[in-house]
Order: sequence, then C-alpha cells, then structure tokens
Amino acid sequence: MKRFKVFTLSTLAAAAVSLAQVAQSTDVEVLHWWTTAGQAKAVAELKIALENQGYGWKDFAVTGGGGQNAMTVLKSRVVAGDPPTAAMMKAPLIYEWAEEGLVTDIHQVAIDEKWDELLPPMVQEIMTRDGKYIGAPVNIHRINWMRVNPKVMQDAGVEVPETWDEFFEVAEVLQANGVIPLAHGGQNWQELTLFEPVMLGVGGADFYRKVFVDFDVDAINSETMVEVLDTFKRLKAYTDKNAPGRTWNLTTAMVMRGEAAMQIMGDWVKGEFSAAGMTAPEEYLCVPAPGTGDGFVFTVDSFGMFKQKDEAELEGQQALAAAIMSHDFQRLFNLAKGSIPVRLDVDMNEFDSCAQGSSADLASSGENGTIVPSLAHRSAAGPTARGAMIDLISQFWNDDNLSSADAQAKLADAAARLSS
Ligand code: BGC
Repeated sequence: MKRFKVFTLSTLAAAAVSLAQVAQSTDVEVLHWWTTAGQAKAVAELKIALENQGYGWKDFAVTGGGGQNAMTVLKSRVVAGDPPTAAMMKAPLIYEWAEEGLVTDIHQVAIDEKWDELLPPMVQEIMTRDGKYIGAPVNIHRINWMRVNPKVMQDAGVEVPETWDEFFEVAEVLQANGVIPLAHGGQNWQELTLFEPVMLGVGGADFYRKVFVDFDVDAINSETMVEVLDTFKRLKAYTDKNAPGRTWNLTTAMVMRGEAAMQIMGDWVKGEFSAAGMTAPEEYLCVPAPGTGDGFVFTVDSFGMFKQKDEAELEGQQALAAAIMSHDFQRLFNLAKGSIPVRLDVDMNEFDSCAQGSSADLASSGENGTIVPSLAHRSAAGPTARGAMIDLISQFWNDDNLSSADAQAKLADAAARLSS
C-alpha cells in the first residue's frame, strides 16, 4: 500500500514537471521538402534531435522534389514579413537573405561546438560569409549517381555501362528486351539533374564549372556544348511515354520493380531503397553516372535561420543548429537520407557500400579538382541563374523541334544576361 502511494506521488510529481516543460517549451517552425518515405524517416531524426534539446517541432513540409514548391512558399512568407523560424535551403540562397539582413547569425554555436574542427574546409567555406557561419550544414548529397536493377541487367545479358557510348549500346539491348532503359521523371528539375552528369561526363569538370558556375558564354558556344546537348537529348528515346510530370520517387519505384533498369539521380534515391527494405549491392547497385567515375556533383543540404522577435525562438534556432551538427543526428539522419555526413568524425563503417563510395569519391574528387556544385540543387548559384538555365534545359528536352544549336544559342544569351 505504502509502495503504491509512493509510486503515485512520484508519478504525479513527474507529470507536473513535464507539464511545466510543455507549457514553457517553444516550437521551432521548420520548413523543408522532405516528404517521401526515405526523406520522412530522415526528417523524423531531426525532430527527435530538436526535441532532445527541449524544443518542440512545428512541421512546415512543402511537397515537391528539388524544393521547387518549398522555395516559392518560403519566398512568399519572407516577403510577407512572416518567415519560418528555420528553413532547409542551400547556401547561395542563405547568402541572398543574409544580405537583406534577414538571417540570424549562428556563429556562436559554431564556435562553442567547434565546427571548424569538425567540418571539411569545403563545407566551412560554403556555410560562412565574412568568416561567420550563416547556416547549419546537414549532409552532402552526390548528384551523379546511377541506381541500377542488377536482375534486369543480367536478364538482358548486359553489363553496367561506364561510359556514355556503353550506355547507349546497353540501352538498345534493354529496350529490345522490353525494359525501359532509363527511368525518368519529366519535371524541369529532374531534367536539369540528368543534364548535370551528362555535362560532367562529356565535358569534364572544368567545362562544367565554366558553364554552370561562371556562365561563360565562350564555353557555351563551344563544340563541346553541342556534344553535351546531343548526348543529353539522345537519352530521351530510352525513357518511357509516361514520364511527364512523374515524381522522382515514383520513378525510383520503377527501378525497384524492374520495369526500368537505371535511374540517374542524387543519392536521396538510396533513402527510398532503404525505406523499402532493399539493400545494395544485392537488390540494387549504385554506380557513378557514365563517364563521371572520378567526378562529384554535390549539393550540401543546410538550414538557415530567419530573424525572429521572440527571444525563445531565437534560442530555439541556436538549439536547432547544435542539434543538426550533433554526432548522433549526423549519423542517424544520413543513414536514412542516403547522403553522407558533413562531420568528419562519423564512422563510415556503419554505412553501406554506396555511402562509403561517395565518401571516398568526395575525398579524391576534392584532391583532383573534379568536384563541382549542382545548379539543379541550388548549390552552384542563386535562384535567378538557376531559373534561367532550368527553363532552357527543360524546354530543350521537351521540344523535339529544338536543335542542339538552338538550345546552345538560347543558353549563351541567358549566360550573357547573367554575367552582364
Ligand atoms: C535536396 C535533397 C532532396 C532532393 C529531392 C534536393 O535538392 O538536396 O535533400 O532529397 O532535393 O527532393
């Protein structure tokens, strides 16, 4: 009896404490576009990491791969003077909002938590402006990946292609075998995502940089650009008629089911395979997109914090930044997301062969100068330049009356406007 009484009292006391915590806890509103099966598992880790810091999670999820819708919604909230506490966005956009004086500085957290010792120099550089951290990095995604269904390849008697020439040969055989060679989702950002590995594979890293980082008109007007555009357009014949409008994760499911053989897309695709309980290399393969074995098209996912009036919300932002860079979160989030951690001290032995490959290629491409930022995934430039290029590449892909020379001229015009 006595025991029962003690138990009841302590339970009541515990309940009172947690009620008090709930009453005091501040919700941090976080905008992101991670809504598919694999992404949702990853984002659940972020929610837990924030809650562990004593803050509530107010979900502001906007569906749409590549963040197209999320970034439109974000802009309208910012323009209306009501930005979310934090938003998943890439560095060039954080720079733009920071220049407008809208972004909270999280430099003190970075100093307290020793980010300079934990992050590779490349990520430090991306996440800082004038020597101060203006965003919290989550991960590194590689764009020039290809997922392959090994059974489909085996049934057709073909090997995984390593060059674009081999790709087209293999694609012919697969098509003759009644398989869709290339799983493609017809949305403009997916088209630009496919274009990037083609440009890297055909033109090389220096050429890629000239075109998508410097918007160099001479590079765009070169013969190499025509070759890149020709190769890209040639791929269309190996996609299916139902591609237009299809989301990237439904496209991935085609490779899972063996309707399609290959998908060229960033390694968030791996998150979908993992969420479906599939493992590499048994049930799917991850290999660099043709011709890009030594290259790395990257994007760094990161969160920027918007200035808030409420003191508790400002503190919540610092807590979120610390949570994002915590060791456990980096490990758990990236295992689910398909990306690799930004923290250098996370043991990659726990990750699968795809992530280990990505990590090794990140290091070697850094040494060889073959690492380039993704424009499709907002790491190479801000929204204006990206918007101009994405429309033209997508128009070229979709309009069979546009020749490579036409597209080249349009791209050169756009680049001239961007660099003037
Ligand atoms: C982001 C990824 C996301 C992907 C698909 C990319 O821009 O970097 O985190 O999974 O879009 O939505």
